[in-house]
Amino acid sequence: MAETWIVLGASSSMARALVRRLAARGDGLILAGRDLGDLERDAADARVRGAAFAETIRFDARDLACVASILARAGACEGTVSAAVFVGSMPPQAEIDADPGLIEGVVTDSFTGPARVLQGLAPIIEARGAGTVIGVGSVAGDRGRIGNYVYGAAKAAFATYLSGLRNRLGRAGGHVLTVKPGFTDTAMTWGIEGMFLVASPDKVATDILSALEKQRNVIYTPFFWMGIMGIIRLIPERVFKKLSV
Ligand SMILES: NC(=O)c1ccc[n+]([C@@H]2O[C@H](COP(=O)([O-])OP(=O)(O)OC[C@H]3O[C@@H](n4cnc5c(N)ncnc54)[C@H](OP(=O)(O)O)[C@@H]3O)[C@@H](O)[C@H]2O)c1
Repeated sequence: MAETWIVLGASSSMARALVRRLAARGDGLILAGRDLGDLERDAADARVRGAAFAETIRFDARDLACVASILARAGACEGTVSAAVFVGSMPPQAEIDADPGLIEGVVTDSFTGPARVLQGLAPIIEARGAGTVIGVGSVAGDRGRIGNYVYGAAKAAFATYLSGLRNRLGRAGGHVLTVKPGFTDTAMTWGIEGMFLVASPDKVATDILSALEKQRNVIYTPFFWMGIMGIIRLIPERVFKKLSV
């Protein structure tokens, strides 16, 4: 029986690249996001590409009322139910510094909102003894830096959450893959200056599928970000605090 994927943040170009591949292998797709009209076009495309089925459902990370309907839909699916989380928001750090009230939204989008869905999905995965969670974090979560430390903190929290969820679901036949992309050419980074080694959303999707096949736990995409972040993590704090990396 084909696997069913709940894709949170399905309008992200990384998500779209993964959805095209999952559709082609005949999986079922529930595309979750805020703009259902937009997502319906993706669902139609997924059906043409071979998805077992493709439908949309509302998900706004800042509106807890969405969670129950997503979990009810997940529970009604036959067979293995998996989830892929692409939700995140990154307002400029200067805007957050000027208005600290933005912090809650960033943390809700990147961590607590998606985690509320995953917490409800976990018992379903445990009861069925199968299921995968893909969580997209960021290299920004590996070390707080002046340019985006609130976003980075939210991503670090999500990565820690995923680590614990892996620990929980692994003993019940589930699997959790943490994905840490570097700079990627998407709506989130549109117009940002100073980016380097920019990857395509297709590259991220390809790396995710390859990691799933190998049952990897944590990946950097592209892979060289593992080396870059390894070096950045090694820089002593007394030196790092003076840098503007
Ligand atoms: N681009 C990069 O360089 C980069 C690097 C590392 C990690 N990432 C991460 O990769 C993931 C995908 O991002 P992207 O680069 O593809 O950018 P994106 O197009 O801006 O994707 C962000 C996704 O999050 C959704 N979202 C934001 N706030 C939401 C909310 N309150 N409720 C529900 N959905 C919400 C967006 O939906 P709407 O269409 O409704 O806004 C969109 O689907 C994010 O988690 C991002 O943090 C990106």
